[in-house]
Amino acid sequence: MPPGGHTANSASELAPITALRRDFVWGVSTSSFQIEGATREDGRGPSVWDTYCQSGRIANHDTGDVACDHYHRYQEDIGLMQQLGIQAYRFSVAWPRVLPRGRGTPNEPGLAFYDRLIDAILAAGIQPWLCLYHWDMPQSLDDLGGWTTRESVGWFADYAALVADRYGDRVKHFATFNEPSIFAMFGHGFGMQNNSHVDSLHRIIHHVNLSHGAAVDVLRAHVTGCSIGAIHNYQKCLPSTPADCQAAARCNVYWNFAFPDPQCRGMYPKLIQAAIEPHMQAEDLSRIHRPIDWFGLNHYSPSFVKVDTSARLGFGFGQKPVGIPQTPIGWPIMPEAFRDVLLTVAKDYELPVYVLENGFGGYDKPDDAGAVIDNDRIDFLRVNIGAMNDAVAAGADIRGYFVWSLLDNFEWDAGYSVRFGLTYVDYPSQQRIPKASFHWYRDLIKTARGRPER
Ligand code: FCB
Repeated sequence: MPPGGHTANSASELAPITALRRDFVWGVSTSSFQIEGATREDGRGPSVWDTYCQSGRIANHDTGDVACDHYHRYQEDIGLMQQLGIQAYRFSVAWPRVLPRGRGTPNEPGLAFYDRLIDAILAAGIQPWLCLYHWDMPQSLDDLGGWTTRESVGWFADYAALVADRYGDRVKHFATFNEPSIFAMFGHGFGMQNNSHVDSLHRIIHHVNLSHGAAVDVLRAHVTGCSIGAIHNYQKCLPSTPADCQAAARCNVYWNFAFPDPQCRGMYPKLIQAAIEPHMQAEDLSRIHRPIDWFGLNHYSPSFVKVDTSARLGFGFGQKPVGIPQTPIGWPIMPEAFRDVLLTVAKDYELPVYVLENGFGGYDKPDDAGAVIDNDRIDFLRVNIGAMNDAVAAGADIRGYFVWSLLDNFEWDAGYSVRFGLTYVDYPSQQRIPKASFHWYRDLIKTARGRPER
């Protein structure tokens, strides 16, 4: 069956999983701003995304104010996770919920929310995987320069200590950052923020890397028996035409290497060394290169890159080759690229890999009977999980796979127009409707867990 194609038995045909470990971890991922809502409740401070939502640049002027109302409906959502049979749930803590101004006095009601959430996840027999930063920086800290100032390293380390001390008795899996290259590049590399320029991008890269290293040390010191990683969006950057090869190579450095290389190998890629140098202090590389336990990989599709001399970094995004199947939102479906990336990452960084996001964005709608039959998503998951199985068979040490996402949610600039969930959310009523892919994933997990010991 071609990737993205339909078959009559889409819902019954599972994915090949023959090469996966018996203790393979199946999960789902979400993030705070995308699902929680309650942005002004219980003392939460504003984040940069609350501010950005006021800029008029989000589709349909959507905001995160209500989102999936997970802040109030988390128990129902954990019920969905139980039905899925996942072993682990990845979520993020909203920094401005626990420290409304980013530093200073913690907000007890905000901290108590994550106590309730974590306790309920554990009571459901699911491992909580906590990500410290999924893009919602407290606005007060951004006002002071955000990641462009080296002071951010201390702010982040203090925030990490607060989270570690509060939840470290119950949470053992921690990620420092989600997709640092994406928020750095899209915030500052392509000029989406009014005051951005290229030098601020290089400062951000370095300070986020230092913040990662500082948080690893804090977590290690404060949480006994913890398992730590960072989550990178690592996807092939392919030239749109043969004339775009150099542009694609540049994109590759910023998108894929700028964070994992210093974090996992203690060095910056050559192309950006000179630009980072003015911000570098003695011993910085060893502050960044701290021992971690795994590599978190988010993967959706390769990017097709073109030369763009008017763009700050000299590259932009070009035409995709004709004939490649795409998701409804135009992301190429290329499971073989996923397999290659898994093999590359496992070999280059010499760490066990957890796939912490992979998923399919579309415009799902319930049918007349109220069911959401998302066979395209099932096909996408099947071929991608199959590609992962191939990578494992070829020697990559892959230990887990988490679908993005449990629920349809606030998809950044696309607002609520794009849906990635295994569960449909009817936003006006907040009703949750498990899609066909939900049942498919549940069956896959059940089958995978039920395999006899080898
Ligand atoms: C990733 C983000 C995640 C979600 C998916 C679709 O880049 O980490 O929050 O938006 O894309």
